[in-house]
Amino acid sequence: MDPPQAHIAILPSPGLGHLNPLVDFARRLVTDHNFSVTFLIPTDVPPTQTEKSILESLPSDSVDHIYLPPVNMDDLPKDTKFVTFLTLAVTRSLPSLRTILKSLVSRFSRVTLLVDLFGTEAFHAAREFNVAPYIFYTSTAMDLSLFLHMPHLDETVSGEYRHLTEPVRLPGCVPIPGTELFDPLQDRTNDAYKLVLGNAKRFREAEGIILNSFKELEPGAIEALLRNPEPPIYPVGPMVNMSPRKNDAESSSLCLAWLEKQPRGSVLFVSFGSGGTHSLEQIKEIALGLEMSGQRFLWVVRKPFQVKKEDGTTYFDRNEKPSFDFLPDGFLDRTKEVGMVMHPWAPQAQILAHPSTAGFMSHCGWNSSLESVVNGVPVVAWPLYAEQKMNAIVLSEEMKVALRPKARENGFVEKEEIAKVVKSLIKGEEGKELRNRIGKLKEAAAKTLSPHGASTKAFLEVVAKWKNQ
Ligand code: UDX
Repeated sequence: MDPPQAHIAILPSPGLGHLNPLVDFARRLVTDHNFSVTFLIPTDVPPTQTEKSILESLPSDSVDHIYLPPVNMDDLPKDTKFVTFLTLAVTRSLPSLRTILKSLVSRFSRVTLLVDLFGTEAFHAAREFNVAPYIFYTSTAMDLSLFLHMPHLDETVSGEYRHLTEPVRLPGCVPIPGTELFDPLQDRTNDAYKLVLGNAKRFREAEGIILNSFKELEPGAIEALLRNPEPPIYPVGPMVNMSPRKNDAESSSLCLAWLEKQPRGSVLFVSFGSGGTHSLEQIKEIALGLEMSGQRFLWVVRKPFQVKKEDGTTYFDRNEKPSFDFLPDGFLDRTKEVGMVMHPWAPQAQILAHPSTAGFMSHCGWNSSLESVVNGVPVVAWPLYAEQKMNAIVLSEEMKVALRPKARENGFVEKEEIAKVVKSLIKGEEGKELRNRIGKLKEAAAKTLSPHGASTKAFLEVVAKWKNQ
């Protein structure tokens, strides 16, 4: 094979949900198309072991990864929104990004910069070095459509979206109630909103947008996006990183051994993503609801968010020692025959692929949703933050593969409701219908990724562009 000429610099914003699909994408570029890749990882805290091991799983002869010098966020107020951190992690890394881009263009004849949805501030630096900027969109076509329409909505909608009496209608998408829109849109006076809007305005400057979805999942939204190809959009999904990680080894063997002992198609997997958790009351209620359902479960539980760290953050620490003292008294004992509780991390991709897994109670992060699709596992949709409520709409109303538990006005879901949806998903007629539907989407996912499938074609178009620009 010829030595690689075309080089891709990938700048993910912090977080596993952004890194995971880009790792799968990079793997295909280097193993099937002879590209070389440099991951540029912006950091404000040291990268986690999980992030490191995912990057280290890539072939080291053609993939380099550079941790950009940590940026300082100490000046930001305590109540700063997560999206602000994500965007500023990129913005404040621009000086080091410039230095690296300069060195890459001196070494490779063609360099492309690929950022995710919060990284468009880097476009300017790319243009300075004649590097073509692209976006890898890690979420749904519906969410991409929202980003592309945001500048127009900003000018035409008055007041807060959450006060709108009519849902927001995006071309080809299920209508979205204002309260379910991407979190930073809920307060237009907040810096997070302004940063997201700034990103959205730069979307049209991209040379192309690579979308981690495919037509059978969101036909209306994708057709509408492809009708107005400015910039061109490439639906290449599902890009799902299924490879086991090095540091999953111990927990993997424990929980996969437990799954092995359960009857086929009997277990509900419960996990709320890489960063989310609930209040103490809600966690206790989830425990009681699972118990009441009488179904088998494998639950990755995290400390409730009242247990804040000293700096006020509500994010759990993956290195914390397991402790389940916040669960209801006697719960672990009473459910030990039917349930396994883990903390704080599980080999999700392997669990969803296991034949004992029958359902997934999920926060609806888009990677988790795609992992459900490729494994044909129906969902209890329980969104927490970011664009997860929009994803829940896609799963339950567009794809019709998820049940959404009914919550009280304050968002609290009662144990009776939890038990009802879990039973219905695992044992009920409704669950059977959802399973059939997601089974068809699983087949569609395999087809679209096959040599003549639509996602493969879109992927090859990107490859051809990057090799020839
Ligand atoms: C957030 C958003 O909600 C998501 O939609 C967006 O696209 C990225 O940022 P996150 O909470 O990271 O996502 O969830 P998700 O997108 O589902 O990604 C989590 C990844 O971590 C998945 O690939 C999942 O398999 C993995 N994971 C999570 C584990 O392997 N083990 C765990 O215990 C939890």
